[in-house]
Amino acid sequence: MKGLFAWPRSRPKAPFGAAVTTGDLADVELSLALTRHCEIIAPEYEMKWRELAPSEGAYRWDASDRLVEWAREAGIACRGHTLWWHGSTPDWLTHVSPAVFAAAALAHLEAVMTRYAGRLHSWDVVNEPLAEGDDVFAGLRDTPFSRAFGAGLMREAFRRAAEIDRAGTPLVLNEMGLEYKGPEAGAKRRAMLRLLERERAAGTPIHCLGLQAHLDAADRPIAHKPLRDFLREVAALGVRLMVTELDVSDARCARDLRVRDAEVAAAYREFLDMVLDECEPVAVMTWGLSDKRTWLAEARPRADGAAVRPLPLDRDCRPKAAFRAVTRALRSKGRFRDSSP
Ligand code: XIL
Repeated sequence: MKGLFAWPRSRPKAPFGAAVTTGDLADVELSLALTRHCEIIAPEYEMKWRELAPSEGAYRWDASDRLVEWAREAGIACRGHTLWWHGSTPDWLTHVSPAVFAAAALAHLEAVMTRYAGRLHSWDVVNEPLAEGDDVFAGLRDTPFSRAFGAGLMREAFRRAAEIDRAGTPLVLNEMGLEYKGPEAGAKRRAMLRLLERERAAGTPIHCLGLQAHLDAADRPIAHKPLRDFLREVAALGVRLMVTELDVSDARCARDLRVRDAEVAAAYREFLDMVLDECEPVAVMTWGLSDKRTWLAEARPRADGAAVRPLPLDRDCRPKAAFRAVTRALRSKGRFRDSSP
């Protein structure tokens, strides 16, 4: 067996992987680290709608194909990320009517899924559908997708997805901000449970809930009872869980590297121990592998200008404390530990 766990005493509790770009593959150090440590990858942005179809009627598949092909050659699984996301709708659809948008969204879902059907590990069918902020009690986020499909959004997406990819590939609803403490995240968790209950009852084939898990090392405790209860309730509904985009922002940590790395590692360990205690995740994925390239450099920079260190490997692709935390969590004894030697 390859990957992070080539030498373990026990099998890991879930496959480990990371989000990848074609730029990463061109970087010798990083691509070696990916093949060495990952059993699964996700295209970080090159399979998104705006990237694939920047102009009407013309798909450019090169980058996405290259990631899928690279993974196949390396014997690594590849996720489909992501079909319907308000964060990546093409500009040419900005001012169209809901009916036109609905038709385009379905055509897009069909184009991507037909191309890769049966070749991917799982599909993020709908990404970040729940409302947030003051709207969090309203349910679905106000997006071109919810305006086009209304309350039937999930049904349209997941039923069509199941019809196209008939290989039984897990269909994932991927969501952010379910992990935090506080009333807003609590409301979001309740909204997600209601949504999953409703959709399960209607027979919508949502097989798995993706927890993005963009965490913050300064926001402890990360493992808290309402989140544990939530994980248990999702599992009780027969919906699997997957950690899809884990990273730990160090934007608010002390500047000292050792202290900072230790805080980030502790957050990784605390979160993964809890998840692995409560369920058997389909996979555990970080959003990037090395601090050399992370979206948080732009999304959550440090006020002091120091480079951020949110991922398992440092800028030279050497394991940090966070890497050891992930490895140990995935291999530790616990409910879902594999009994093989
Ligand atoms: C981010 C990527 O990391 C960036 O490179 C891209 O420009 C924007 O999207 N939630 C998601 C991911 O589901 O697709 C996002 O990825 C991060 C937040």
